[in-house]
Amino acid sequence: MATIPSTTALQRDAKHPARRVPGLEPEPTVGDDATSIGAAREAAKGCRRCPLWRNATQTVFGEGPENAEVIFVGEQPGDQEDLAGKPFVGPAGRVFDSILDDAAIDRRKVYVTNAVKHFKFEPRGKRRIHSKPNAGEIQACRWWLDKELDLIKPHVAVALGATAAQALLGKAVPILKMRGNVIERDDGLRVFITIHPSLILRIREPADKEAERERFLRDMRKVRGLMAA
Ligand code: URA
Repeated sequence: MATIPSTTALQRDAKHPARRVPGLEPEPTVGDDATSIGAAREAAKGCRRCPLWRNATQTVFGEGPENAEVIFVGEQPGDQEDLAGKPFVGPAGRVFDSILDDAAIDRRKVYVTNAVKHFKFEPRGKRRIHSKPNAGEIQACRWWLDKELDLIKPHVAVALGATAAQALLGKAVPILKMRGNVIERDDGLRVFITIHPSLILRIREPADKEAERERFLRDMRKVRGLMAA
């Protein structure tokens, strides 16, 4: 019976290609030694921790000050983010920006990132249709989110939707039941749960859309309160 080498053995063998086990890729070590967000962003450009890099234009790393008090975590870059190389610059980003503005949160003072840093999509004609990242992709990319958390050391992390909550808490969270609540992690990080702003975009009925916008604004005002606390 074949024995499967441990992760550490695979990492060690990455430095000694002659000892590589055929058919098994060594654990990537890119980014291990990054000690600043700039260095981590550079290293993440070559990330191969999961296959999503193959079809995406580029890695979309987080943006914002390295000493930000709060980190907002979305799901994954969309079509426009993939092309621009920046998080939350497309339609969901515009909704997000306008509500942050109303809540008196200055986006330039917060760090904004995603649970998964490559755009996952299905081609449909000329369009690229968003496809939800799976648990393996979220887990693989968690390495980068942990790196961002390690370097920024925020007081609060805001999970924008289910994928972000799963990445931050390591388990599925019922978003609609938990929204507006804070869950404290074992390491003391407070994770505020809310919806993903794209939910507001998807609502057609104007009154319902406005009501959901108001609820999200209330959540952002709570986040602002946590920032000051
Ligand atoms: N949705 C996300 O979750 N992140 C982005 O960057 C854009 C849209």
